[in-house]
Amino acid sequence: MPTVTFAEEHRAIEVDAGSNLRLVMLRVGVSPYQGLDRLINCRGHNFCGTCAVEIVEGKGASPRTQEEETTLGGSLVVARVVAKNVRLACQMKVTGDITVKSHPVRPLDAVETKQRIAFAAVALFFGVAFLGTFGYIFLDMIKKF
Ligand code: FES
Repeated sequence: MPTVTFAEEHRAIEVDAGSNLRLVMLRVGVSPYQGLDRLINCRGHNFCGTCAVEIVEGKGASPRTQEEETTLGGSLVVARVVAKNVRLACQMKVTGDITVKSHPVRPLDAVETKQRIAFAAVALFFGVAFLGTFGYIFLDMIKKF
């Protein structure tokens, strides 16, 4: 049976091979979440990215998928650097002995974040312009009746 060691909590637990790391963490009382994320998270559906952990040692982790990598990369506006040893606990299966550090520091990708903000600003501008024009036309049509 693989052993999962929690580096900062100084705990180790044996788990069945193929166990989901998020469920293991919640079962032993080591939360993958911090602060408000404990209440507001996607419950393991690979959407929020709040359950990130760092694999400090060991090769007992299932391979990272493209979907997991996309979620780790940040949100619509904020981009994060995706280190090779950072995983989403909810998407990872334990296949061998590993040492895990919860709540890793995930630095911002400043260049990508600026691009995303610029894109969001342009999309917002055109969205507001479209709705304003549509609203004006709609109000003009109502006025005629
Ligand atoms: S719990 Fe949301 S991505 Fe893992």
